[in-house]
Amino acid sequence: MIDYTEDVLLSLRARVRPYLSEKRYLHTLSVEGEAAYIAARALPERVGEVRAAALLHDIAKKLSYENQLNYIREFGIISLGEAPVGEVAHAPAGAAMIKAHFPEFAKADILSAVAFHSTGRRGMTVFEAIIFLADYIEPTRVHESCKSTRAAFHAQFDAAATREDAVEALRMGTIRAMRQTVEYVRKNNMELDETTLSALSYFENGGELLNLREE
Ligand SMILES: [Fe+2]
Ligand SMILES: [Fe+2]
Repeated sequence: MIDYTEDVLLSLRARVRPYLSEKRYLHTLSVEGEAAYIAARALPERVGEVRAAALLHDIAKKLSYENQLNYIREFGIISLGEAPVGEVAHAPAGAAMIKAHFPEFAKADILSAVAFHSTGRRGMTVFEAIIFLADYIEPTRVHESCKSTRAAFHAQFDAAATREDAVEALRMGTIRAMRQTVEYVRKNNMELDETTLSALSYFENGGELLNLREE
């Protein structure tokens, strides 16, 4: 059982560095910071593990689409229906790479948070939502929809009086980020991943963030 100490996280930062471009590494550190901030209120007993997931979330980004699919086929543990579309394949491929290259971090919640960080999913957990939202709103993002989602989220989250309020702000932020993603993909005539649509309809029909993973 890993204890996610500062030392463990420090060495993980160094280990993920070669998998990432300079820009992607800075983004990754920024996701770690944002995710830690959210977890401190929404999932305080697991901040270290959330930070580890953030550090690992984009490690497959450099690979070609072909190689991403190869990793998913070889090490994939997560049931995916269709092959994921190009933009999001690095997420499940990242989970597969954790199994292959960072086995001590191959814990169920880290794997699923990495696998679904681009699409979200129906019945997602608080842990998964923290990585999903932190990835979308971390402060180095410059896209207008990221900045507006960040502002709206923090207005609600920073004012949360209880853990329940913090989780509700996380749920609202997650829905907002998903809607913006769907809108962006449609506007740019890109291929929309089914998992995102199904996640959005789950939340739009009153779905809650779960505390424990269902499968
Ligand atoms: Fe990503
Ligand atoms: Fe990312």
